[in-house]
Parts: sequence; C-alpha cells; structure tokens
Amino acid sequence: MAEAATFSARARSRAEKLLGEMTLAQKIGQMVQIEGADGQVPLALRQQVASGAIGSVINEVDPAAIAELQRIAREESPNGIPLLIGRDVIHGFKTVFPIPLGMAASWNPELVEEAARVSAAEAAEQGVNWTFSPMLDVSRDPRWGRIAESFGEDPLLTAEFGTAMVRGYQNGGDRQLISCLKHFVGYGACEAGKDYASTNIPDTELHNVYLPPFLAGVRAGAQSLMPSFSDLNGSPPSGNRWLLRDILRERWGFEGFVISDWASIAQLVVHGVAADDEDAARQSVVAGVNMDMVSGAYAGHLELLVKADVVPVPVVDELVCELLTAKYAAGLFDQAKRRYSFCTPTAEAEDAALRAAQESIVLLKNSDGLLPLAEGASSLCLLGPLADQPDEQLGTWVFDGDVSRSVSLKQALERTEGNQLQYDAVLATSRDRSHSSFAQACQRAEASDVTVLTLGEEAILSGEAHCRADISLPGSQLALAQSLKATGKPLIVVVMAGRPLAIPELAELADALLYVWHPGSMAGPAIADVLFGRVEATGRLPVTLPRSVGQVPIYYAHGKTGKPATPETIVHIDDIDAKAPQTSVGNTSFHLDVDPSPLYPFGFGLSYTKFEFSDFQEVRATPLGGVELSALVRNIGDRPGREVVQLYVRDKVASVTRPVRELKAWQLVTLEAGASEQIRFRLSRDDLSFYNGRETVFEPGGFTAWVGNSSDADLSIELDVR
Ligand code: BGC
Repeated sequence: MAEAATFSARARSRAEKLLGEMTLAQKIGQMVQIEGADGQVPLALRQQVASGAIGSVINEVDPAAIAELQRIAREESPNGIPLLIGRDVIHGFKTVFPIPLGMAASWNPELVEEAARVSAAEAAEQGVNWTFSPMLDVSRDPRWGRIAESFGEDPLLTAEFGTAMVRGYQNGGDRQLISCLKHFVGYGACEAGKDYASTNIPDTELHNVYLPPFLAGVRAGAQSLMPSFSDLNGSPPSGNRWLLRDILRERWGFEGFVISDWASIAQLVVHGVAADDEDAARQSVVAGVNMDMVSGAYAGHLELLVKADVVPVPVVDELVCELLTAKYAAGLFDQAKRRYSFCTPTAEAEDAALRAAQESIVLLKNSDGLLPLAEGASSLCLLGPLADQPDEQLGTWVFDGDVSRSVSLKQALERTEGNQLQYDAVLATSRDRSHSSFAQACQRAEASDVTVLTLGEEAILSGEAHCRADISLPGSQLALAQSLKATGKPLIVVVMAGRPLAIPELAELADALLYVWHPGSMAGPAIADVLFGRVEATGRLPVTLPRSVGQVPIYYAHGKTGKPATPETIVHIDDIDAKAPQTSVGNTSFHLDVDPSPLYPFGFGLSYTKFEFSDFQEVRATPLGGVELSALVRNIGDRPGREVVQLYVRDKVASVTRPVRELKAWQLVTLEAGASEQIRFRLSRDDLSFYNGRETVFEPGGFTAWVGNSSDADLSIELDVR
C-alpha cells in the first residue's frame, strides 16, 4: 500500500526491530481485536488502548473517536503502535454500489475496481483502514443468503472480480484500505444453503473450484484473510493448520495476516473440537490465526499458554511480526497524525455507482422488442413493493450507506414522467400476502399504456444468516403479476433480489423481465436508463437461475455423469403410465418433475441489439504450449451494443471427471450497428490444468471450445492441445 502493494522487506525489518522491544503481553495485545463503542471512547476502552492490550478495533466509524483512539495508541501506548480500524465495507460505504452478485453481472472488473477504490476513499476519510472484503466464496446455492455477497458460481469470475476489488481497495494512494479475502474456504458450500452449516468438499473440487479465487487474491497482494465459520470436512478453518499454514503460507507464500471471523476461535468449543476457550486459543495460534476477532480467547489465555510452554514464543513472535509488518506496509505508522472527517459523497462517487448499477442489470426477456420504451411516448403505471424503497434497494451489509442519497425507481421516473406516472406499491412488503389492493392496481394499469411491476425481496431476506428454503417470490407477488397480466397491458417486470429466485411462472407471464439484484444508491436512475434505452442492456448472469429449488445446486460447470440426459430420455411425471415398469424412464440423470434446463443459464442476458458469432478457429499454437483462438463477432441489430463474448472449454478425456464446460476467458466488445470485430483468446497450458487428487497437471489431448454469449453457446471447435 503506502510502501508497496505487497509487503516490502523494509516493512518486515521495521516490524522485527519493533518486536524485539516488546513484552509478551504487548505482543499478545496486537493479536486482540475488540468492538468500538459507537462513537464514544469510554474509560475502559481508553485504558485498553493506552496499555497496549489491543491491536485493532472493529465497527467504529466515528472520525473523532477514531482519531482519539489512534492518538492514545500513538502517544500513550507503550510502543506507539497504531490500531487497525476494521469495518465491513462490502459494496460501498456512504455511496452504495450494487451487491457483489449484481456487480458480477457487469462482467466488468474495471468497474468493480473503481467501486472498491471509491468505497475505500470514503471509508478512509472517516478513519477506517481495513475492510473485510472481498468475499471470494464460490456460491452455487441460492438458498444461502450470502450468495448476495458473492460473485456467483464461477471460480474464474470470482477470481477476476476478487482481484479487481483487492486492487481497488489497496491501491488508492493515501485513501485506501487493507483488504481481506474471506471466508477461507468453501463457506459457500454449506449444507442445504444454511449459513454456518457444515461443508463437505472433495479434495478435487476444493482445489479446482474453491481455492483458486483465494490464490488469485493472495497473488494480487491482499494483506489479510479470514477463515470460514463452517467446518470443512470436519475441521473448522479457524483451527485448521493445513489450510492456514500448509496451503496459505507455505504453498502460496501469503505474507499478510489472518483474522478470525467473529468469535470463531471460541466457536471451536461449540463445534466440539476444542475443550474450552484456552484449548481453542491454542489451536488457533498453532493453526496460524494472527488476530482474534472479539472472542476474548487470545486476551484471556494466550499469555498463560506461552508461559506454560504450551505455545512456543517463536510461534507468537512470528504471528505478531506479520501483523506489525502489515501495519508498516499499509502506512499506518505514517498516517498516525491524520485528521478524519465525516465523508460527503462526491459526484464522481455517485457517477461510479450509477454506472455500476446500469451494468449490473440483466435483461432476461423482451417479447416483441417491448423495451426500450420510447421517451414520453406512453403513460406508465409503476407498481409493486420495491418501486419506492430507497433503503431496501441498497441490499445487505450497508451499515454506513447514506439512504438520503439513494434514489428509487419511482423518484427517478417522476423526474421524467411527471403526471404521466401512476404509482401504487400495492403490497406493503414483498412478504405481504394480501390481495386487497389488486383491483385498484389493475384499474391503474388499465388506465396506462404500460405497467412496470417491481417485485422481489427486501434487503433483509438475503445476507448473513438470512437463508431461505423456498426461493420463490415471497407473499402474494406472483398473484399480483397474474392479475396484472389479465389486464392485457404490456407487463414489464423488474426483479430486485439478493439471490437468484426460482420464478418460472413470472418469467412466462412477463412481457419483459429485468433482473436487477439490489442495485444500490443509484438503483432508480439506472433502471430507468435501461428501461428507456438511454444506456444499453449489458448485464449477464453470474449465476444460474433455477426453475425450482429442487434443482439446487444447479450450475453450468457440473461434472460429467456417465448417464447424461438427452431430450429422448427425459420423461415427465405426467407422462408416466400407471403401473409402468421400473425401466420405462430413461435411466439418465434428470428429475421427473421439472424441466432439466435452468430457467436462464449462467452467462445469459439479452441486449437491445443482437450479436452473431462466426469463424471460430484455432489461429496458432502458442510457443509455450496452449493455443490461440479467434472468432468474429458481428452486431446484426440496428442499435449499438456491448456483448460479453465468453469462451468455454471441455477437457474431453482426463484422468478424473472434469466439468462439462468451464469458462476460461471473456471479453467485453462494444460494436456499432452492423459493425464486426475479430477477437482473440489465448489459452495457456495453465488455463487447461486441473487438480487430479494428487497434483495440478496439464494433460495433453482433445478439448472442445465454445464461443458465444452464455454457457449454452453452441459455436464450437475441436482442439488438440499438446
Ligand atoms: C461475518 C464476516 C464479517 C464479520 C465482521 C461475521 O459475522 O461472517 O464476513 O466480516 O462478521 O463483521
């Protein structure tokens, strides 16, 4: 950061020197994080900082309180070591960007890097110097509430967005934050999509799917990392030496520090792998957790454990040295006298949030070119419980979001539509089961040319510990859509949600369907811009939309079964004869009671124009092995547009089963109507390597490659890569 994006040798030698001057108690103090006191600096907190008993404060954002805490640390504590001030700055600070899942729908890492840079600048202005972001948990279960915080189901997409965020947070000059990769590892695979539940992940999947985004984050220079709450194959990561030492430090060379998750050290006792807090503290230190987030286990037990020779001094020394190195490398010692103030969002920040929201919107259906609407040509009826909810549209994890600057769709449309706009929330919340206002809503729809209906989920229905077993539309929202459909007026549905919802009936009846996630502060203007075609529809799904919760987990890169379903083998429950013999169904891999395809596949999204792909070919073998491919992309519609050109690969024969397809690269290509561009992709041997249960290998041979605009792309070529 201030000195380098990664840890400089100078920071390390300064840390070593300082460490040599510290007592055991002072060292352990650096390993302790406690909660702030809501803008206050009460006597107990003052004394703890002054005595050097803590190294970090979480959840304090008041500029004066932070300045005072840092002053005490600098002037009164024994070694004058500044504090890490941690906060969950997840998708914005005052200015709120789309939830990470929404930002991933942009497929635009530059935009996400900018979002992180803006967020860091706003938070740093108030004195925060560390964020617990990005979350790199590959998420394939929409029941899990934290899918909202993820970049979706794909390891490459997750790695690209994660590293973009690390760069954005950590490379912002004197207004930057230390970033934290979380939750190491496999948290997204919690059983039944229920937060904190166990994860059981085979070694091949761990190495091929869940670990790679973290390796990418480490290589990008992230300075901290947080283990997952969920036990992984029986071992909670906060006490898992194999994960935190063997893989993270020894194999990957991570030089940052590990912060536990909230009280996750003490939770080793609840998990039943530690006898008591003392045992938990011992296990976490041995595993390599540098700092205890609020559980008190380190503060309460570590000194005695060292004095009793249970934990060797060098183990503590190294963990503390890593923490001090990070503080030096992040420039905390140099910033000690900085003044902080409440952040006022800038026009530049709002503009970045607007662009991010625009690009996060995915157009899923557009019958008869209903969208974009012509400006001023039709009277609009805006309905639904999420059309005018400036707070709900911000999504989960917005402790500091400035709701007063959040603009709803109603507010945005009022600016342009004036009296032409009819509005009615109809339902108090997305969970409202009443039908009492439906008749009035239908009358309003009938009196207008077009209905825009906003449905989905409020912010509180996704995020940490907010998991759902039923991922259909809550309350009577579907019934409302059905009533409005019966009016015969064109129905544009805007779904605002923190997860992929299973909405097959809604998708069927909507004339146009926009999936907007929780778009943040600038939701209203962004949705309006897409509705009226002031910007093009460019978002693409970063996650599969299921038809039914029973299909979950449903993701495009699933393994190759020995009995794949084909259209000929699929039988529907309604078509099975009474008393049919056991072998009458196809004996292939499908459910009897749901169409086997997803509702919308990963990578999918419509444009207002249309793109065509052709001339897909191998142009040459690259000198170091691997191949270079090229394809022609043509805008065959009558508007300009931007396509996300996606490249997928299948390894045809390998020593272990490999996914049916894997995303290997993508490019954003902007083309005027009628224009075309030859694009090139380079695939190295590394891109085609995988972990086979023992090691990461490249196995030469046949591959199929597809190019197109979703994971269903059908333009393919066969490759022989050596
Ligand atoms: C979450 C983390 C978060 C931490 C601090 C925990 O409950 O799992 O993601 O960073 O709290 O707020």
